[in-house]
Amino acid sequence: MTLNHQVTQAAEWLRTRDQRTCDLGLVLGTGLGTLADEMTEAIKISYRDIPHFPHSTVKFHAGQLVLGCLEGKTIFAMQGRFHGYEGYPLQSVTLPIRVMHRLGIRTLILTNAAGGIRPALLPGSIALIKDHLNLMGNSPLIGPYDESLGTRFPDMSEPYSLRLRQLAMQTARELKIPLLESVYAAVMGPSYETEAEISMLQVLGADTVGMSVVPETLVARQLDMDVLGLTAVTDQAIPGSMSAVSHEAVNKMAAELGPRFRRLLRAIIKAL
Ligand code: HPA
Repeated sequence: MTLNHQVTQAAEWLRTRDQRTCDLGLVLGTGLGTLADEMTEAIKISYRDIPHFPHSTVKFHAGQLVLGCLEGKTIFAMQGRFHGYEGYPLQSVTLPIRVMHRLGIRTLILTNAAGGIRPALLPGSIALIKDHLNLMGNSPLIGPYDESLGTRFPDMSEPYSLRLRQLAMQTARELKIPLLESVYAAVMGPSYETEAEISMLQVLGADTVGMSVVPETLVARQLDMDVLGLTAVTDQAIPGSMSAVSHEAVNKMAAELGPRFRRLLRAIIKAL
């Protein structure tokens, strides 16, 4: 079955469950999923029930779609995402983005947890993604092509919408929440980085490193969706003072900075 067919079946199935038109797609990353619990008029659908969706295998990722309202917007929110390191092809990891597009969504907010590489990005800080390095050695855009997938050769001169970045910076200023622009390096994982890898990422110009976001951005840009990326910095890796990182510690820090992150996100959604 073609990817286009899978998108059609998933989107048609979802339309039978809920006819609302969503204003916005939202992917909630590690430790950040609780924002979906604040949505009203919400219906929750397990990924397991949606045709062709993989299901989330990562602890702390709820693995459900929440369709509901927040700050006056109707939102298609993913509480937990799929990752390449779970063994799914990146075409499956990013299928939900294509389904969002098929359902008429043109604006996408991606959130994630990541390690800080630039010294100013301490654990607990929030970063706005202005650009990325795809170091996954892979792309969800590789494969047979048909026009329904979007353009064959997507432009990447502005992967993260300048208009949305300006809106996010302005909103953060108003809330007095520090927000630093960052270059996000995406790696396949699931092991965290060695000291030598962190040194390499520094040389390459990365400010943060994580295991998600980029495949979703690539597909969204192929479909000409506007993307905003927000990162919760959960740990810091600086050559010379490396300390152990664990999934538990990453989650704990994401939960700690959660209230501030959610406040910012809600205000951005309101301002959209
Ligand atoms: N590296 C990669 N991915 C991550 C990290 C990290 O330090 N923290 C959270 N996700």
